[in-house]
Amino acid sequence: MTGRVMSRVWIAVLVAAAIVSTTAWLASGAGGRERADRPAAVDRLSTPQLVGQRVIVSYEGLEPPDALLELIREGKAAGVIFFGHNIANRTQSANVIAELQSAAEHAVLPRPLRRPLLLMTDQEGGIVRRIPGPPGMTEQQIGESPRSRLLAKQAGRAAGRTLAGVGVNVNLAPVLGVLSGQDNFLQMFGRIYSTHHRKVSRLGGAFIAAQQRQGVAATSKHFPGLGAAGSTDTDTAPVTLDLSRRTLRDVDEFPYEKAIAEGTRLVMIANATYPALDPARPASLSRPVIRGQLRRDLGFRGVTITDALEAGGLEDFGPIPHRGVLAARAGADLLLFSEQEIDEGLAGYRELRETYQGGSMNEATFEGSVRRVLRLRKALEKGERLPPP
Ligand SMILES: *[C@@H]1O[C@H](CO)[C@@H](O)[C@H](O)[C@H]1NC(C)=O
Ligand SMILES: *[C@@H]1O[C@H](CO)[C@@H](O)[C@H](O)[C@H]1NC(C)=O
Repeated sequence: MTGRVMSRVWIAVLVAAAIVSTTAWLASGAGGRERADRPAAVDRLSTPQLVGQRVIVSYEGLEPPDALLELIREGKAAGVIFFGHNIANRTQSANVIAELQSAAEHAVLPRPLRRPLLLMTDQEGGIVRRIPGPPGMTEQQIGESPRSRLLAKQAGRAAGRTLAGVGVNVNLAPVLGVLSGQDNFLQMFGRIYSTHHRKVSRLGGAFIAAQQRQGVAATSKHFPGLGAAGSTDTDTAPVTLDLSRRTLRDVDEFPYEKAIAEGTRLVMIANATYPALDPARPASLSRPVIRGQLRRDLGFRGVTITDALEAGGLEDFGPIPHRGVLAARAGADLLLFSEQEIDEGLAGYRELRETYQGGSMNEATFEGSVRRVLRLRKALEKGERLPPP
């Protein structure tokens, strides 16, 4: 090629590159529209509504109580967690869910709050399943099979379809523990894939990707990992896992790198205490764990959620509503009030509201949490394959 032809070719290449990058820039919304829209979504909420976006509640029995419907109509709850006692069969649970979503959609609320509520449950596999339907195999059975990768993918797809079929849009699964303790309380029900961190990582990643393709958000749990726990469930008593920082990073947290790369929309934080990371507080109430390890070190940008705040493992940290405030301060975006009692959630909501209104919580970080929650609610709107957060 002559010099002149070369330079024409170069000009053509440069012009094409400029067009491509301008298009990408406009599509990404970096021109300002998207960015301007996001603070606006939060600004449209009243303070009680803003606070409510961090609260997940639960209730007893088959019928949602009036207090819950009212909370939703006022835009003061982000969502609901369902347990076995809330579910009689698929038809009944689909009807309840339609009733809850309709309370949000048809209420006189700012537009961001008319987006889908976060409706969540544990559909892990094996006996840990709340909605009638697959996946039937436990994580352990999947991990032990020679076809483990395929089975993990099938389980994720099946969980997504079962939940989407009744309108549940968040699954509190998969468990990403790396088994090392004896008599691990999770493994009593086959809830852990493997003793090998690479295998847990591969199978968890396959489950997450397959499930989120069905439009149902995945929750990787329980960060930074409960695979080394013994027989005491953190549900019943405080659990301390004395692992080195190095082991936590290289083994227990390892599967979260893959989960984040596969786009897990949520991460649930463990109730156990990890002295190497924070000797004073359980992970779900710990800033070094949530803001340090998970957000800063692993780069997670999605929604963080506590485990059950009524857990016995947290009993040293005051009444349940107070634990909620501590978790919110530590960086948990969503607080899980899962006692199956609406009054627990209402009390948690009120204490958070009073504390926030009292001015002792950082407004910018509070709003950052709410933005992440609203972004998740928006992503669930279409019921389609979920992009990474
Ligand atoms: C589902 O459960 C409801 C409430 O208990 C009951 O009335 C209904 O008959 C059940 N439907 C089916 C199909 O089993
Ligand atoms: C915390 O408590 C909940 C409910 O009480 C339980 O399901 C969960 O396993 C506990 N979390 C951890 C981190 O062990």
